[in-house]
Amino acid sequence: MNKLDSQLLSGELMRHGFVLEGDADRADVVLYNTCSVRQHAEDRVFSHVGALRRRAEREPGFIVGVIGCMAQRLGAELVRRFDFIDLVCGTRAFPDVPRHLERILAGGGPVVDVREDGAVACRRMPAMRVRPHSAHVAVMRGCDNYCSYCIVPYVRGREMSRRPADVVSEVRALAEDGAREVVLLGQNVNSYGRGLPGPAVDLADLLGMVNDVPGLYRVRFVTSNPKDMSDRILRAVAELDKVCEHLHVPAQSASNPVLERMNRRYTAGQYRDMARRARETIPDVELASDFIVGFPGETAQDFDRTLALVQEVRFQQSFVFKYSPRPHTLAARWPDDVPDQTKRERNLRLLDAQEAVDTKRRTGMIGSDVQVLVDGVSKGDPRKLSGRTRQNDIVVFEGSEELVGRLCTVRLTDSTPLTLFGAVLPTPS
Ligand code: 5AD
Ligand code: SF4
Repeated sequence: MNKLDSQLLSGELMRHGFVLEGDADRADVVLYNTCSVRQHAEDRVFSHVGALRRRAEREPGFIVGVIGCMAQRLGAELVRRFDFIDLVCGTRAFPDVPRHLERILAGGGPVVDVREDGAVACRRMPAMRVRPHSAHVAVMRGCDNYCSYCIVPYVRGREMSRRPADVVSEVRALAEDGAREVVLLGQNVNSYGRGLPGPAVDLADLLGMVNDVPGLYRVRFVTSNPKDMSDRILRAVAELDKVCEHLHVPAQSASNPVLERMNRRYTAGQYRDMARRARETIPDVELASDFIVGFPGETAQDFDRTLALVQEVRFQQSFVFKYSPRPHTLAARWPDDVPDQTKRERNLRLLDAQEAVDTKRRTGMIGSDVQVLVDGVSKGDPRKLSGRTRQNDIVVFEGSEELVGRLCTVRLTDSTPLTLFGAVLPTPS
């Protein structure tokens, strides 16, 4: 969501006549779009912003802004801490950044805008896409789940879905503009439609509508919550030709007492059941997960249960985070009692287990043919192309740049951690 907000804001700034400069040293205005989910992300912003102090003091016209979740959370405190900051703009107000910047540039002084009214965040804006053929679309914002460790409901506010007609018209415009893949985004995308006025609509309905948009090849959605993964959604993924067989469904833990304290509202058994239903309903589906290690009170036995889940479900990918207490959250009131060394060990052990299951999975794919949407030239080898399978595996292969943004079939020949290699097959004429 943060990346999308950066792209939306870049598009909006360009529309207002600003020119993007990738090198912060040469830019007249430096904006940090920030994340508050983990302390580590905030610490990095503090150090980046702190490093701009000398330049800001030397050059009075140089403008520094902090936007997004940290801005929402800290508001004017950021200006107290860094007195050279000109703009603090929260999650709801970011579409107004160009207007605020114009005011600051005209000598109007610093601006702090951390309003709580969320409607503006759903305004349609032209995003600057990193890959022209792939686009992200926020279909909902905010979250009402209040997992006990998570700051999102406090910095991004209540869950709010966009109207299906608005989403579809945005997707249509993106497809007309060359997008071949859209990723529908929501902190809790499975509960899309809840609270919308008019006839009931859910994510399965929305996927059906987006699937019908001409010109698109692929549709994805993130992030799913296991408790809301209905059979209707699974069937939609199975039946709709453009919707890809890849589900990012964070489990966070596989120990029931931990899940209960996390306020996740499912048990490890229910998670397993969801994974089983997904595999039964959707041939070739791959599942990805997030995990938090070292949550308050997590014992060695709790952790072993999580390890066993990774081995059993054989995730395609797991993102593992060391627990960090966040302001406002319920868990922050409990002792952060798992030593950092233990968190680090559990983090590594879980990643090792993940790598082992994934290596086995990828090795088993060698020799098979996969459909690839070509993203561009490979970062690791400029003579090769890089693309992704429907299951979101990265594939690198030789081919002409004309294939970028197109679908092709690749026969897999080799695999290393995180990357598959292959040779493109001629398209049947
Ligand atoms: N500490 C560590 N990880 C966290 N996440 C969310 N809050 C915290 C926290 N306080 C992780 C979860 C979530 C991902 C986006 O970030 O795993 O799914
Ligand atoms: Fe945070 Fe839980 Fe909402 Fe995800 S579902 S954004 S972890 S509160």
